[in-house]
Amino acid sequence: MLPFRPSSVGMAGDVIPELIQLWIVIRDEPELTAKEYELRWRRLQNEGHTAYYEIRDSFNATRSPNDLLFLSRTCVNGLIRFNKNGDFNNSLHHTRPGIAPERLSKLIHQWSHYIQPVIFAVGDYRQTLTNAQTGDLAFLDPPYMGTKGRYIPTNFDFEEFYLELERLNDAGVRWVLTFDGVAGERTYQSTIPPHLYKVQLGLPTGNSPFTKLMKTSLDSVVESVYLNFEPPPEALSQAINFRQKKLSRRSKQQMQQGRLFN
Ligand SMILES: C[S@@+](CC[C@H](N)C(=O)[O-])C[C@H]1O[C@@H](n2cnc3c(N)ncnc32)[C@H](O)[C@@H]1O
Repeated sequence: MLPFRPSSVGMAGDVIPELIQLWIVIRDEPELTAKEYELRWRRLQNEGHTAYYEIRDSFNATRSPNDLLFLSRTCVNGLIRFNKNGDFNNSLHHTRPGIAPERLSKLIHQWSHYIQPVIFAVGDYRQTLTNAQTGDLAFLDPPYMGTKGRYIPTNFDFEEFYLELERLNDAGVRWVLTFDGVAGERTYQSTIPPHLYKVQLGLPTGNSPFTKLMKTSLDSVVESVYLNFEPPPEALSQAINFRQKKLSRRSKQQMQQGRLFN
């Protein structure tokens, strides 16, 4: 049985229309979305890499959210990457088959359950946040410093982003921002002005998919999380314990399977 689901309406936004369309079909047609994944996944198992590249071509021609879901689960380290023309250009992850359809179907139905009250919007974050008001909570996950052009060809303007944080502070909107951090020996340090936030946390989030992609090393990542409010201490320790339990379960599984790059 699925537990708690928030009853109040929430909003989620991104500038990539295909990503938002994917969340809409997951919310509204979970059964069909799971079936569409299974069809593509079975093709990959039977026909091999040509099926992946045909589905990638199909996505670039039609922008089908079901193609995108398949690509995101079978491409190298699950990284959704677009070239300058806006075409999906990550390759097939040859050494793994992609998440099994039965497992993904369960997840899709769970996600669908939780996101029923969510309104999805394509657009700039400032547009999505326009009506945020006192008492609202915003979760912000912008491109990191040092990841120029990774998601969209245009650069993310951090100075404008800080202005928006200031506006949210003035409007009494609480926010949680995942922003930068440390991956292996590299530090993606943000220049976020300290007066904008009240708390900075370092949360271990596993291994970097980017260094896995480059196969240079297996960098562990500590992500910085900023809050413009003081959370209750029990909420903080719950979040940290949840993360650590999840990570230690995952690394145990990887060790058992003798995998370095999973
Ligand atoms: C670090 S990723 C976060 C992705 C997502 N939260 C997740 O966990 O999969 C940064 C996201 O910011 C989006 N983005 C970039 N510029 C944006 C803008 N001006 N307004 C809204 N979203 C933007 C990118 O398309 C990308 O999906």
